[in-house]
Amino acid sequence: MSRDTRAYINVAALKHNLSRVRHYAPHQKIWAVIKADGYGHGLLNVANALNNAEGFGVAHLEEAIELRDSGILHPLLILEGAWDTEELTKAVRRRFQLVVHQWEQIEMLENTHLPDSVVIWLKIDTGMHRLGIGVNDFSRAYQRLQDCKQVSSVNLMTHFSCADNLNDPTTLKQIGIFNSTVGSSSGYRSLANSAGILGWGDSLADWVRPGIILYGGCPIRNKMPGDFGLKPVMTLQSKLIGIQNVAMGESVGYGAKWTAMEPTRIGVVAIGYGDGYPRHAVEGTPVLIRGHLAPIVGMVSMDMITINLNDVEGAKNGDPVTLWGDGLPAERVAEKCGTISYELFCKITSRVKKEMVYS
Ligand SMILES: Cc1ncc(COP(=O)(O)O)c(C=O)c1O
Repeated sequence: MSRDTRAYINVAALKHNLSRVRHYAPHQKIWAVIKADGYGHGLLNVANALNNAEGFGVAHLEEAIELRDSGILHPLLILEGAWDTEELTKAVRRRFQLVVHQWEQIEMLENTHLPDSVVIWLKIDTGMHRLGIGVNDFSRAYQRLQDCKQVSSVNLMTHFSCADNLNDPTTLKQIGIFNSTVGSSSGYRSLANSAGILGWGDSLADWVRPGIILYGGCPIRNKMPGDFGLKPVMTLQSKLIGIQNVAMGESVGYGAKWTAMEPTRIGVVAIGYGDGYPRHAVEGTPVLIRGHLAPIVGMVSMDMITINLNDVEGAKNGDPVTLWGDGLPAERVAEKCGTISYELFCKITSRVKKEMVYS
């Protein structure tokens, strides 16, 4: 029996989730955000599946170049912009669109002789205080970009800090600040990430920027992907490679952290933190086997986890075990690990083979 730990990437689910974005944002264009290797799903896999999006958003130049060199002709938006004149020139030569979020980037545009003109998205800091030009500087920054001969158009964007919490007034405040700052300035507007699209209709504007919902993750607190008709794209699966009958009072795994309170059938599953499964998954984190949720017991090791099979009849070596995906939303695992589905997806390591599934 080979190790057989796989991340199945469901192309139909990706396309379905894009259609859910269209449902929530019917009049908007879509920057499908596929940075960080398509949130761990494979950059090109995802770009090819989402070819109906109007464009792709990536974090930095290398990701955009990889897409272009692989034949992706869509508009590409570099969300962190260019960091030096060499990057700027390379980006402009390939007609990438660039976010500008700090003065140095404006100065670079003014002072670098470029091979072509460039479309800019000016990022305004409406309260997240990560990247962006402050609202008091907006008019000056916008005017300098408008005056820059190498800039063909200036579009306007911001990013939300708390849109995952539908009870938090911060998002409405950010939308208000954005609208009053840009006023009637020309240019397309883009505010909404996934949570904006699902939860904040006033943020839709001209272009939306979904990431996690394309992969079937849920960005809204206390909700599940199914509540929004989203389907999981990545199903992380492995196999049962061992079964141990452990007597009451015996312990399992490193540090003997878990002790059986009754005779327990322990299943050993071939996945661990060497595959990107979170080491800090607590006791009780569920896996799916034979249609049942079985809890993890003991510590996650590099190559294996141990689960309690007492409620899983007939389990035997070779049985498939789903860590998340179809039948077990990644959010259920993430909440047990003190993290978010984004991180679970991104952390899958290269020894886990990604296999595309087309139906
Ligand atoms: C500027 C920007 N827009 C959109 C997104 C997509 O966010 P989400 O995956 O929450 O939809 C991100 C992701 O971090 C981002 O940085």
